[in-house]
Amino acid sequence: MDEKRVLLIVGGGIAAYKALELVRLLRKAGVAVRPILTKAGAQFVTPLSLSALAEDKVYAQLFSLTDEAEMGHIELSRSADLVVVAPATADLMAKAANGLASDLASTTLLATDKPVLMAPAMNVRMWEHAATRRNLAQLQADGVRFVGPDEGAMACGEYGPGRMAEPAAIFQAILALLETARPLEGKRAIVTAGPTAEPIDPVRMITNRSSGKQGYAIAGALAALGADVVLVSGPTALAAPAGVNRVNVETAQEMLSACEAALPAEIAVCVAAVADWRPETVGGSKLKKGAAGPPPIALVENPDILATLSKAARRPRLVIGFAAETDDVEANAKAKLRKKGCDWIVANDVSVAGTMGGDLNAVAIVTAKGVERWERAPKAEVARRLAQRIAEALP
Ligand code: CTP
Repeated sequence: MDEKRVLLIVGGGIAAYKALELVRLLRKAGVAVRPILTKAGAQFVTPLSLSALAEDKVYAQLFSLTDEAEMGHIELSRSADLVVVAPATADLMAKAANGLASDLASTTLLATDKPVLMAPAMNVRMWEHAATRRNLAQLQADGVRFVGPDEGAMACGEYGPGRMAEPAAIFQAILALLETARPLEGKRAIVTAGPTAEPIDPVRMITNRSSGKQGYAIAGALAALGADVVLVSGPTALAAPAGVNRVNVETAQEMLSACEAALPAEIAVCVAAVADWRPETVGGSKLKKGAAGPPPIALVENPDILATLSKAARRPRLVIGFAAETDDVEANAKAKLRKKGCDWIVANDVSVAGTMGGDLNAVAIVTAKGVERWERAPKAEVARRLAQRIAEALP
């Protein structure tokens, strides 16, 4: 990504703080970032933090002699390979949809001849308002790309769609737009992600704390390199990465069926935290408390999706599993490689606090040839490196 350039417009919303993390991810991947901070944006992040992380000057004024002398707004609007608006507020979307040029950000959006990616962030009522719906449809018709918003709890106390996509998801959408080399074009990849949920009765289930972040990041990174990605996902709160076909499943058995239905594929990456066991019988009605005390729940083993894909008649050329270990990480990963019959195991040390559900991951890639340790990095960066490595392994 060296030499790629992004012009980042930071609008005024509580999500603006996440733009700082986005800048950090982009810089780490070698992308140059030139920031524009709106007047409202400066209420949430300071020009100094943005400038320090971007390692560039922050542009803020349309009628500033110094800014204009250094780089006129027309030149600024064309100085990058991609224009990103994060957070894209209702106001910025409305201005862009209607072609207003009332400040530096809106003027830049009107003057640019480069692709534009917006990451909307606003209150759920504002997002669902007919005016924002119209503006969104207009911007999409004008060729603007979107990432998010996600659904969830909002800073204002309401719940619904309108939260800005996570920095990792925006980062991936950016990489997908900047990436011109598409070495995985024409190759299909199956990625499993998230937890599975195994029902006990119509209201109860056995599940786990997997967030799905690493699997989603890998699906997005493979798509960014041109792969045709089927993301078979258990229940998560994440939006599907750009360009990925998501198949939603609940149980391990459904996950296996969806993976088999997606064959043939060149690549399979099993990141999902599949429940090892499921209740043997699932009650048709809710189990009630009674004099007999707690009901016994008999468990049976779930199918092993990674092992099944590794032995399949239409086995993908490259099958990759994950191993979450707390002790003897590499020795256990090597044993798992043999047991499952896959080609690589990505071993992560979950004894490091904050790995599960967090944004950082320290992994080792274990193959028949040996072990390669990668430094602790954001999950999006681990995904990008893994996708590159996959592309190199599959000429
Ligand atoms: N996996 C799978 N289907 C299962 C169980 C696991 O596809 N039913 C995959 C996971 O997606 C991951 C790898 O297998 O790629 C993890 O292997 P597993 O043996 O489940 O590892 P752990 O959960 O770490 O198990 P153990 O307690 O045996 O170490």
